[in-house]
Amino acid sequence: MRERIEKREAEIAVIGLGYIGLPTAIMFADAGFNVVGYEIRKDVVAKINRGNSHIVEPEIDYLLKNAVESGKLRATSNPGDIKDKDIYIICVQTPLRQDKTPNLEYLEDAVRTVAGAMKKGSLVIIESTVPPMTTSRMAELIEKLRGFKAGRDFYMVHAPERVMPGRIFKELVYNSRILGGITEESAELAEVLYRSFVKGQIFRTNSTTSEMVKLMENTFRDVNIALANEFAFLAHQYGIDVFRAIELANTHPRVRIHTPGIGVGGHCLPKDPYLLLSSAREDFGLIQKAREINEDMPLMAKDLLFDALKAINLPPEEAVIVVLGLAYKGNSDDTRNSPAYAFIEAIRDDVAEVRSYDPYVEGSHRSLEEALKDADAAVIATDHTEFRGLSWEELGKLMRNKVLVDGRHLIDEPPKGFVFRGIGRGEY
Ligand SMILES: NC(=O)c1ccc[n+]([C@@H]2O[C@H](COP(=O)([O-])OP(=O)(O)OC[C@H]3O[C@@H](n4cnc5c(N)ncnc54)[C@H](O)[C@@H]3O)[C@@H](O)[C@H]2O)c1
Repeated sequence: MRERIEKREAEIAVIGLGYIGLPTAIMFADAGFNVVGYEIRKDVVAKINRGNSHIVEPEIDYLLKNAVESGKLRATSNPGDIKDKDIYIICVQTPLRQDKTPNLEYLEDAVRTVAGAMKKGSLVIIESTVPPMTTSRMAELIEKLRGFKAGRDFYMVHAPERVMPGRIFKELVYNSRILGGITEESAELAEVLYRSFVKGQIFRTNSTTSEMVKLMENTFRDVNIALANEFAFLAHQYGIDVFRAIELANTHPRVRIHTPGIGVGGHCLPKDPYLLLSSAREDFGLIQKAREINEDMPLMAKDLLFDALKAINLPPEEAVIVVLGLAYKGNSDDTRNSPAYAFIEAIRDDVAEVRSYDPYVEGSHRSLEEALKDADAAVIATDHTEFRGLSWEELGKLMRNKVLVDGRHLIDEPPKGFVFRGIGRGEY
């Protein structure tokens, strides 16, 4: 198998052609392998086979066209088309259920499909983010379904993905990679495979360690953001500006406090801490608590808004509120798990009207000026560059009342004539 990989003769099937699977399939095709992408969404398959991407990502249109036109990549919804491949790379979604437990149905379905299609000697790789010990459980599922013995009759690896949307094709090449094998030989084979396009470092370990590594990375960020948010709560009680305090604390050579804000969104940070906890016998409290703090941040923004409305004697039920920014991060159109929506949900029933404006996402209004006309309060929920340095004194002239709530620390000096509140910005 090693030689077949080195000579690019190994046949690859990528299962799930979303944000991770499609770029991965393109990279292997570009490296010279014959790749079949297996995807359950027929509309996605048809689009890809016409050379058109269903996801937005720099460079993807050109790279996908090349891969499809060269005949190295094709997509299918027919399990018969992925029979007897040398390598299967599973990139399906691993979301949470309503009750915050992992929904591994997509993964299990994908593993069943692979088990039905694979041959003796195949290498099965899971790129999806999964709870600890899932890869070895999936190896057991294949053993049960096919009667193959893991490590002897097939190889299996967890190869977590660490790319950031918007930079996927750069990061796929230059990020370092962790390859967790259920056996050493499995990880060694995967290393030969990924070396076909990865220029970053490659580290081999066992599959439960690589599962933990991926989840620990995102949990580290989530817990640190929660700590910064707790500092923001405390700063309100003590009447100080937490951002000035953080700036000063970060002058310490070994301190790096994160940034407080209206909440944590995106595809991974809000779910990965729950995946990390889901296989554990007991909950130690810190990670769960951090998640709760971050999930409560839109409510803190609501408190600030209602406090400001009280200061101008405007009952919330008469107030028109404008939410500035719907994306979960600045200069992006990605709205997955965005705290802006949690904030809108939290205030919707208590106010007269909620409007929204985002330069990257379709909101209720097409321009900032239109959204602010005769409104009572603006709430900044996303740190888009467009929202920095706005002339609030001018914009205020459009508004019926002048309340400004800053959930992303974009306003340095409260604008004249406004009742201003900001997360972490002193007393209220
Ligand atoms: N998107 C990111 O930024 C990112 C970053 C790092 C890790 N991850 C992880 O990678 C995994 C994939 O994420 P994504 O964003 O690409 O998800 P996605 O929803 O964009 O793509 C998953 C695709 O798999 C398809 N699919 C589902 N079940 C299938 C099955 N049984 N057979 C074939 N196709 C099937 C879906 O139709 C979908 O197109 C997740 O575990 C995620 O946590 C994502």
